[in-house]
Amino acid sequence: MSKKILVVAGDGIGPEIVAEAMKVLQALQADGSIDVSIEDALIGGAAYDAVGDPLPAETLEAAKASDAVLLGAVGGPKWEPLHISKRPEKGLLGMRAGLGLFANLRPAILYPQLADASTLKADVVSGLDIMIVRELTGGIYFGQPRGVETLPSGERKGVNTLVYTESEVERICRVAFDIAMKRGKKVCSVDKANVLECTEMWREVAVKTAADYPEIDLSHMYVDNAAMQLVRAPKQFDVMVTTNMFGDILSDCAAMLTGSIGMLPSASLNADGQGMYEPIHGSAPDIAGKGVANPLATILSVAMMLRYSLDAPAAADRIEKAVSQVLDQGLRTADIMSEGMRQVGTAEMGDAVVAALS
Ligand code: IPM
Ligand code: MG
Repeated sequence: MSKKILVVAGDGIGPEIVAEAMKVLQALQADGSIDVSIEDALIGGAAYDAVGDPLPAETLEAAKASDAVLLGAVGGPKWEPLHISKRPEKGLLGMRAGLGLFANLRPAILYPQLADASTLKADVVSGLDIMIVRELTGGIYFGQPRGVETLPSGERKGVNTLVYTESEVERICRVAFDIAMKRGKKVCSVDKANVLECTEMWREVAVKTAADYPEIDLSHMYVDNAAMQLVRAPKQFDVMVTTNMFGDILSDCAAMLTGSIGMLPSASLNADGQGMYEPIHGSAPDIAGKGVANPLATILSVAMMLRYSLDAPAAADRIEKAVSQVLDQGLRTADIMSEGMRQVGTAEMGDAVVAALS
């Protein structure tokens, strides 16, 4: 049965990298490997410019009616002066909340061909394969009360609140444990239990939930130490599970271990397996429109989409192999360029992946 994909390209380099991912989808469609129908919709600054809202109601409705959403990126300096409720990022957060995408999977895998592109020594990162499982619809990103108020003294007070219920912690831990069962069976739960009561509870729930997974080796780490360990000895980690904000920060850190944030895909899933797929990098306004952005994170996000939401694991494998093959051929976008390799632009990289598919 045909599956529905909603494409929301967004801002900055979003449209350029999504165009390359579309070539890959269309090639798989053309050779009969997948059966999908594709629609597109507005999000982020592009949606604000067109209709005055970073997440138009039609976009969220179309997303709800799809099996999966492919997102490019949102945001840019042009929209920074707007009130926070109208900024492009609200479009992204509204999608996450509106679709209930509580489980964010951010794999950090080092392609052996790129060991020299990392700022860390090759022996520290070679063979790296970490899965960060970030809680995505709770925590300080969504907790109430929030906002800035003016006190009687005239001074302003800003508030954001870290909130988790036990059930929110339990379900994200289960996702992490289920994933770990298919990998190295090791989960590190990252918290700040020495200071924040909410995450002390997080730790207790993680321990309690792990009782259902006797084969899982569960450990705990404070977030400051986890940041340090990620750059000191990252290969000690298999699966990491953590709160929305800690996951935001640690996943950027893990991304750089792999050489470039331009390589990393992500999946955001809800309880029904419906998902939104996006590169973990942002809209990179400084290079937008120049045709130099790395489309591989978006192309790899399509692979995750085929695997997690569209039940097409063989097609997903083919994409991942094709990416590895173009790296073997020595093709590099500027962000992963190194001596002796051939530098290519966004479209040439996308075309090379399509060629390597067959
Ligand atoms: C991410 C991004 C987003 C986040 C921004 C763009 C709202 O940094 O997906 O990691 O903070 O979650
Ligand atoms: Mg982030």
